[in-house]
Amino acid sequence: MQSAKIVGLGKYLPPKILRNKDLERMVDTSDEWITTRTGIRERRIAEKGLGTSFLAREASRIALKRAGIKASQLDLILVATITPDTQFPSSACYLQNYLKAHSAAAFDVSAACAGFVYALTTAWQFIESGLYKNVLVVGSEVLSSITDWSDRSTCVLFGDGAGAAVLTRSTTRKSFLSSYLGADGANSDLLILPGGGSRHPASEETLKQKMHFIKMKGNELFRIAVRVMVSAARKALTKAHLTTEDIDVLIPHQANERIISAVAKRLNIPQGKIYVNISHYGNMSSASSAVALCEAWEDGLIKKDDIVLLDAFGGGLVWGSCAIRWL
Ligand code: UT7
Repeated sequence: MQSAKIVGLGKYLPPKILRNKDLERMVDTSDEWITTRTGIRERRIAEKGLGTSFLAREASRIALKRAGIKASQLDLILVATITPDTQFPSSACYLQNYLKAHSAAAFDVSAACAGFVYALTTAWQFIESGLYKNVLVVGSEVLSSITDWSDRSTCVLFGDGAGAAVLTRSTTRKSFLSSYLGADGANSDLLILPGGGSRHPASEETLKQKMHFIKMKGNELFRIAVRVMVSAARKALTKAHLTTEDIDVLIPHQANERIISAVAKRLNIPQGKIYVNISHYGNMSSASSAVALCEAWEDGLIKKDDIVLLDAFGGGLVWGSCAIRWL
């Protein structure tokens, strides 16, 4: 038997806090609207000029230390992000250099808010196939760099942060029990950064049209998010021969507290089994699941032999759910 297990978790949240009260001075919004519609009270903002790989480095160092694995022992680094330091090279390559992980291959995974689940699944497969032994998986975002601070419908939602997991080979018991990943490119316009890519390279026109900022149709996404997260969770559980009753800890993507509650209600999972930290950090895309997993473990919510279910959804559209037995 050869499988993968998580042996170290870490997180990094930039120290600067942007509270709802601060946003009241920037756009036509209110603490009351943001809190009741989303559950968000504050979010972290990275210092200007700090790239995604810097946040990833801080989270990774903690995860590696906890894992007792040196960066030089890493075979692969995966960074899930939609805000890479540069279009290329990848943030994973910058991180490899920061960590001096000279033996590691490195690439980014682009799957928006489901990026950490996609990257974890990829890492698990690389280890189970026997190709690699030690893999670092990071969800890291500087969403403040693509946020339109004059658009109240989006700027209140997002934050910056990073979470990291170190995976290694397990030869005793299976930890990764199942994964279900999905996508729907037909709805790509619901959540998009339209400018700066090969379709619309940066130009005066793209700047004028504010195409380098996140555009989101929140209302439509909300309905799809609930349906798709419920279905992804059920599919991952079925693949693992589990039911919702077997879940000890649910780690949902943190886009909106109301989405999380609706998903939990439909899956019939009690509040005490769900980890929610959106009030402190907002939506950090791929970093949300990574940081939530790390904090749930730090807070003692995740114990040995627990069944942990990750469940995420985001722009693409993409979604994914992963069932893990905590070893
Ligand atoms: O990360 C993964 C993908 N993302 C998601 O899954 C996000 C899903 N969507 C959502 O979380 C919610 O749709 C939002 C939080 C984005 C918006 O909440 P909503 O309850 O769907 O509000 P809405 O967009 O329907 O807007 C309701 C009203 C509108 O005013 P009118 O037209 O009713 O007069 C908006 O203009 O609220 C207004 N509004 C605001 N008011 C105060 C929108 N943003 C704000 C704001 N402050 N920040």
